[in-house]
Amino acid sequence: MGYRIAVVGATGNVGHEMLNILAERAFPVDEIAALASRKSLGTEVSFGDRTLKTKDLDTFDFAGWDMALFAVGSEATKTYAPKAAKAGCVVIDNSSLYRYDSQIPLIVPEVNPEAIHDYKNKMIIANPNCSTAQMVVALKPLHDRARIKRVVVSTYQSVSGAGKDGMDALWDETKAVYNPTDNTPADKFTKQIAFNVIPHIDVFMDDGSTKEEWKMVAETKKIVDTSIKVTATCVRVPVFVGHSEAINIEFEDFLDEDEARDILREAPGIMVIDKREDGGYVTPVECVGDFATFISRIRQDSTIENGLNLWCVSDNLRKGAALNAVQIAELLGREVLKKG
Ligand SMILES: NC(=O)c1ccc[n+]([C@@H]2O[C@H](COP(=O)([O-])OP(=O)(O)OC[C@H]3O[C@@H](n4cnc5c(N)ncnc54)[C@H](OP(=O)(O)O)[C@@H]3O)[C@@H](O)[C@H]2O)c1
Repeated sequence: MGYRIAVVGATGNVGHEMLNILAERAFPVDEIAALASRKSLGTEVSFGDRTLKTKDLDTFDFAGWDMALFAVGSEATKTYAPKAAKAGCVVIDNSSLYRYDSQIPLIVPEVNPEAIHDYKNKMIIANPNCSTAQMVVALKPLHDRARIKRVVVSTYQSVSGAGKDGMDALWDETKAVYNPTDNTPADKFTKQIAFNVIPHIDVFMDDGSTKEEWKMVAETKKIVDTSIKVTATCVRVPVFVGHSEAINIEFEDFLDEDEARDILREAPGIMVIDKREDGGYVTPVECVGDFATFISRIRQDSTIENGLNLWCVSDNLRKGAALNAVQIAELLGREVLKKG
């Protein structure tokens, strides 16, 4: 016997990848429901070699469903996730709504799988922000060996992190640069994104950082270790899919770059591609559709006592969202629900 799974936001970027990944990883599904807003009622989405017709989230009854993978944004999550949880269906949520609630586990399965048992507090599990997920997969094995004191990270985040509309904006603006009569207002992002970079993701906080940057700080503490200090600069770049991060790490103990490379090679979810030659590193276009978080450019930072630099690239729609959610579903199945 398998699971009855609802994918909520099935017409969106993340929901689409959730359906793909559930099929690719042969998740034991007895029944699957694809849900979106009423305007998408009947829209066809793929699930492996099957086609599903999208149902209306507003009228869906979650009673009898095992898990709901939510990818609809905070507003809709606020309305519908409690309904699903109340009906006995475990919610795995991609929005930021529940991530900082101390009662709700925030999980990256390679890092803090033991938190899964806290699902029963509210029948809700939170999935981290895309830029945090890939970073903590890389930080955890290094922290276990040499204790991380401080992380300085700069991100290069693709437009798909801003949903379908973000991808459309890059496409339309790029065309408009070549064809000025095709006059597209740059209204999805705060500045032109085509052939540009924007140091602003999510809203500004009182201290001058952005919410995206704050999320990386708060989520790394909750998932890995509250003692780790993080300072982040998050930047939107004109890449369709795949987030990149330049990460500088300061450890308590010395960690040699060769040992760090060996540790990362053995770590779950990581692929090291690190040759000191032309092209001997990973770029975002190469990570699209992959499960791994790729690490390149591992090198000592000799300007501080115990410092290391690395380059981290991953498919934000996968490890940053849909894959992590499916891995949580697998973990919940394996450790708790035990069907399939
Ligand atoms: N993209 C990423 O890298 C990423 C990473 C981590 C987390 N997330 C989070 O994942 C969530 C989804 O992101 P996305 O990139 O997939 O967005 P998206 O491409 O814009 O898709 C949004 C989905 O939500 C549905 N939806 C929105 N409002 C709804 C409502 N009131 N009722 C029912 N369905 C509704 C949409 O359905 P319709 O098509 O019917 O409008 C669509 O299926 C967001 O919370 C986002 O912050 C995204």
